[in-house]
Amino acid sequence: MRIAMIGTGYVGLVSGACFSEFGVQVCCVDKDAGKIERLRKGEIPIYEPGLDELVTRNVAAGRLSFTTDLAEGMRGANAVFIAVGTPSRRGDGHADLSYVYGAAEEIAQNIEGYTVIVTKSTVPVGTGREVERIIRRVRPDADFDVASNPEFLREGSAIADFMRPDRVVIGTESELAREMMRRLYRPLYLIETPIVMTSLETAELTKYAANTFLATKITFINEIADLCEKVGADVHDVARGIGLDGRIGKKFLHPGPGYGGSCFPKDTLALVRTAQQVGSPLRIVETVVDINDRRKKAMADRIIAACGGVVDGKTVAVLGVTFKPNTDDMRDAPSLDIVPALQKAGAHVRAFDPAGAHEAEKLLPGVEWTKDAYAALSGADCVAIVTEWNEFRALNLTRVKELMKRPVMVDLRNVYSPDEMAAAGFAYSSIGRPS
Ligand code: UGA
Repeated sequence: MRIAMIGTGYVGLVSGACFSEFGVQVCCVDKDAGKIERLRKGEIPIYEPGLDELVTRNVAAGRLSFTTDLAEGMRGANAVFIAVGTPSRRGDGHADLSYVYGAAEEIAQNIEGYTVIVTKSTVPVGTGREVERIIRRVRPDADFDVASNPEFLREGSAIADFMRPDRVVIGTESELAREMMRRLYRPLYLIETPIVMTSLETAELTKYAANTFLATKITFINEIADLCEKVGADVHDVARGIGLDGRIGKKFLHPGPGYGGSCFPKDTLALVRTAQQVGSPLRIVETVVDINDRRKKAMADRIIAACGGVVDGKTVAVLGVTFKPNTDDMRDAPSLDIVPALQKAGAHVRAFDPAGAHEAEKLLPGVEWTKDAYAALSGADCVAIVTEWNEFRALNLTRVKELMKRPVMVDLRNVYSPDEMAAAGFAYSSIGRPS
């Protein structure tokens, strides 16, 4: 089996490397010559645990290659995966499909024998059909089928998610294409991964439904957390108490500063737009989007309140700025709302992030970046844990207290317990728990 993976962003690179690990011949194609050059040298442009070794191993084995030349990448390919970006369009928040359609035109020109064209990027319902129309228009003679194969990878655990997924969703009407996809995913059949074979439109919608459901679940527990604070209840016990019900499930019930990242904010908004366009509005999701936006903005107020209502002239130490741990991704990270709001209120923000600082420096001007967590805390009036990197879970609290001007901690990820923080002598506030 041979495939071409168009786009070496997060999805394309991880999927391409993982397919090559399955024994498939994979050629990854990207227009960015600098990126392809770096990948050829074994330099991985994104931070994803395990990806480095996976790429190096498969390149050495001759199963994984990189090129800027689409024709070369597609030579002899049984399937071509479109894994280019689908950013939110400025103005209306809908997914910008220009890269997907551009790729379809170019793919059309290079189809040789029977080829399955698979959309892997998250694309609104109807995109696969449009890809089909484009290819048919450019190359009426081409022998091809289209399929949708959305990915459910989480940043930070993408390789495990690809290798041992809860399910694989494949949407196509063609039996030939189905057979091709079965062959590609053969190793997953061996471990009895459920494969949902369905239509193109259903597969496309399934991806959005999954992400919006998870975003809704998080938003639900975040609102319950706010209520817990008012009535003196503990959100973690509520989450456990409901999550043990198999119909609800334990996962994605961790309260926090609001969901961020490259997927949930973009996908919730895009689904809202699709639903509005076809006259079947998703009012729950509209509300989720609104609540989450407000929540991220409101987080700075918690920090200001913990500082006695005033941060003007004070130093706030921020630990973690990426949207979640084990990534350097800053897209829609809560820190992008929190830090500027603190600065606007007059605070001096000193921050540390194990991986995100390089990216964040451009996005968060005026922040003083430090080399480690303790340097950020030194002389600070308050410390806010914004991303739950493991190294923030085991801070030496005695040292933290000695270093800070005042022992005040706002824990937006609930990595510490109110009891241990009280015992350590901190004024401590967290999310949804009696303090
Ligand atoms: C998400 C989905 O989990 C993947 O299944 C999907 O493939 C991916 O989007 C995508 O569409 O490409 P990801 O954005 O990498 O993956 O990150 P998650 O681990 O899902 O976290 C998303 C956000 O939700 C983060 O800001 C995280 O802090 C927040 N979150 C997550 C919570 O606040 N509470 C939770 O209990 C879980």
